[in-house]
Amino acid sequence: MKRDATQKVCFITGASGRLGREIAISLAGRGYAICFTYFSSEERAQDTLDELQRISPSSTMIYCDVAKVESIQKAFEFFRTQYSRLDLAITNASNFFPTLLPNIAEKDWDNLVNTNLKGTFFTMQEAVKIMQAQDFTSRIITITDISAELVWRRFAPYTVSKSGIQHLTKIFAKEFAPKILVNSIAPGTLLLNPDRDTAYEAEILKKIPLQKFGSPNDIVQAVMFLVDSEYITGEILRIDGGRRLY
Ligand SMILES: NC(=O)c1ccc[n+]([C@@H]2O[C@H](COP(=O)([O-])OP(=O)(O)OC[C@H]3O[C@@H](n4cnc5c(N)ncnc54)[C@H](OP(=O)(O)O)[C@@H]3O)[C@@H](O)[C@H]2O)c1
Repeated sequence: MKRDATQKVCFITGASGRLGREIAISLAGRGYAICFTYFSSEERAQDTLDELQRISPSSTMIYCDVAKVESIQKAFEFFRTQYSRLDLAITNASNFFPTLLPNIAEKDWDNLVNTNLKGTFFTMQEAVKIMQAQDFTSRIITITDISAELVWRRFAPYTVSKSGIQHLTKIFAKEFAPKILVNSIAPGTLLLNPDRDTAYEAEILKKIPLQKFGSPNDIVQAVMFLVDSEYITGEILRIDGGRRLY
């Protein structure tokens, strides 16, 4: 049975994880019903769902491997059985690990580029099919990374995948205006890992003019800003404490 047609709905990938969960919970607090995807962390996903349903009872979760188009399509099939509108799609699911030139394995390239870039593209494509048919303005927010604009030696496939998403954001913004506003948020380093390497952290801090890491809340604020804005599309919002200036 479909949910209340007057309640705004957000589809977000990867909200079993850290930042995705924070964004989903904040949007639920703003009155959205949330449909989120998980991949390998079913237990954490269930925990996120329990929290979401306390705030916004019409929220749901669905398994999805964003590296596989069929899996994305199945997730959207599920979405269509549950909801009759899509106000906001957020492509957050992502993989991140170092890869060293000149010995990057094909499986690592495929893992990073398929999850991050291909997954984002096909999620956006499914979202716009629903959004185009609606008679109100809707939004897509892609989550990229400030490293999309930097030259990081150990992260070629990851940074290339995020640069690709930034370009896709502009293509979709132009293609689907004025009905769909499409923007990207590019976080710098966020303080999320309890078991992080403090020596490495100190090195990174030297490259952040504001001399601190970002918090999930900094990104949530950016999401809310874009959700409220009526005249921004094709933009990359960098939330990095000035990290890109180095
Ligand atoms: N953390 C940072 O400092 C930072 C900095 C810059 C940009 N970002 C960006 O912010 C976003 C969130 O980052 P995060 O640190 O919160 O990430 P995270 O904790 O690693 O979570 C990643 C999410 O993506 C999902 N995922 C991974 N592979 C997937 C696949 N094949 N199919 C579907 N879902 C998949 C995971 O699901 P399962 O856990 O269920 O497998 C998880 O929900 C990412 O786009 C990341 O690039 C983060």
